[in-house]
Amino acid sequence: MFSGVGDSLETPLTTLTTEQATATAGQAVFVERDAGHCVLCHRIDSLSAPFQGDLGPVLTGVGSRLSPAQIRFRLVDPSRLNPDTIMPSYFKTGPLHQLPEQYKGKPILDAYQIEQLVIYLSSLKG
Ligand code: HEC
Repeated sequence: MFSGVGDSLETPLTTLTTEQATATAGQAVFVERDAGHCVLCHRIDSLSAPFQGDLGPVLTGVGSRLSPAQIRFRLVDPSRLNPDTIMPSYFKTGPLHQLPEQYKGKPILDAYQIEQLVIYLSSLKG
C-alpha cells in the first residue's frame, strides 16, 4: 500500500504540472460532489459553498496546523490514525465497509486530485 512515517507521508503520490498544481484546482476537488465532496463533513471559512457540514473538524487554517505530509497522510488513509473514523480513505483500495459499492476496489480520488487537495489545504494559513 504505502509507507508513512509516523503520521506523515512525505513523498507525493505523483508529480503535477504547473497548470495542475494550483490551489484553485484543489478547491474544486474539495467542493465538487463528483470528486472529493469534502464539504459534506468539513467547513472552511474562506470558502463560499452553499452547504458545509460539521461532522469533521473545521479546516480553516489547517495549513498552519499540519504539514503537507501530514495532510497527505490524512487523505490517503485516515483510518490508520483512527480506526473508527468516519472519514473515508480516499486513496486506498480494497473492501472498505464505509464505501458505496461503486468505489470498492478502487481509490475514490486519483493521485492528481490528492496532490491538488494537499496544495489547497496547505495554502490555508491562519
Ligand atoms: C464522512 C465525513 C468526512 C468526509 C466526507 C471527509 N472528512 Fe475529513 N475528517 C472527518 C473527521 C471526522 C475527521 C477527524 C479525524 C478523525 O475522525 O479521527 C477528519 C479529519 C480530516 C483532516 C485532519 C484535520 C485535523 O485538523 O487534524 C483533514 C485534513 C481532512 N479531514 C480533510 C478532508 C478532505 C480533503 C476530504 C475530502 C477529500 C475529507 N476530509 C472528507 C470526516 C470527513
